[in-house]
Amino acid sequence: MSAIIDNTPSAIVWMQEELKLLDQRQLPQLVVYLQLDDVAAVADAIRQMVVRGAPAIGITAAYGVVIAARQRYAENRQTWQRDLEPDLELLAAARPTAVNLCWALQRMKTLVLTLEGDPFGALEAEAILIHQEDIAANQKMAGLGADLLVADSAVLTHCNAGALATGGVGTALGVIRAGFASGKIDQVFADETRPWLQGARLTAWELVQEQIPVTLLCEGAAARLMQQGKIGWVIVGSDRIAANGDVANKIGTLSLAVLARHFGVKMMVVAPSSTVDMQLASGDLIPIEQRGADELLELEGKRIAAEGAQAWTPAFDVTPAELVDVIVTERGVVWQPSLEKMKSLMG
Ligand code: MRU
Repeated sequence: MSAIIDNTPSAIVWMQEELKLLDQRQLPQLVVYLQLDDVAAVADAIRQMVVRGAPAIGITAAYGVVIAARQRYAENRQTWQRDLEPDLELLAAARPTAVNLCWALQRMKTLVLTLEGDPFGALEAEAILIHQEDIAANQKMAGLGADLLVADSAVLTHCNAGALATGGVGTALGVIRAGFASGKIDQVFADETRPWLQGARLTAWELVQEQIPVTLLCEGAAARLMQQGKIGWVIVGSDRIAANGDVANKIGTLSLAVLARHFGVKMMVVAPSSTVDMQLASGDLIPIEQRGADELLELEGKRIAAEGAQAWTPAFDVTPAELVDVIVTERGVVWQPSLEKMKSLMG
């Protein structure tokens, strides 16, 4: 299959030894890049969701380590490895659910411990490799996922699992891009994805630029959509997949999976192997990030909820493996995921 192209501006740009992030808080109104000059700014950008989406967070953290190590080495050539520890911890704490963050940091740390002399070149090369591997994984998954679809499919996606959430063409949106390019997908429905509106602001923006027909709905309309037989697949990404195949993804994914099973719609999860956490036996153990109440009570900084109301704001939920029909990774496809099948996938 030929490479799938996307026209979305890159979420992460590493150029001339500087890190720039597309500020996703301002999309789709403004396309603005922020330059991040120190590790605290990188951690803050992840926490504030300047950059978001599990693979993109991991790649950003890897570049964050390059920036931090450059600084620490300039300050003290003898103790820089030890001095880097708090920086790694700061980055790791920025967002808890997407395991790609810890996966990328662990990879960088393993390299840090082997280095002598100026670490910049080796760490920069490793971060770029993590970035490039994600681009390649996206391409592979796009083809594998699209192969599972039949002609003239309509699909529903949730949150943003596109170019903005990864280094490449996206996970779920990579499959959707490939499915559209091969004529298998003719209509995409996208949940607006309350409360941060990744679907309305980011997914719709990406698809409109590709001239892929996209129709937004509020999450509450998904049952009606499925009841009317309008879609064949729900296609989503993931922030962490446990060893038994349980899937953490944007809050609302579990509702879609329950509905999909009820209405005979298939559920596809698309994620690179860096999202699989074989250390966690089941999804119950996945830490779930709680976002600030303002994200629900306010819209664009303006209070919309009744004064005095409180908010419950888990950013992710966990879909049990039994509700997932297929997990697509760059290593291959797992139907009806289970511990045995995930072990065999991950080696
Ligand atoms: O809170 P976000 O926007 O970082 O959440 C992102 C998601 O839940 C995505 O679906 C997931 O990270 C997969 S992205 C390829």
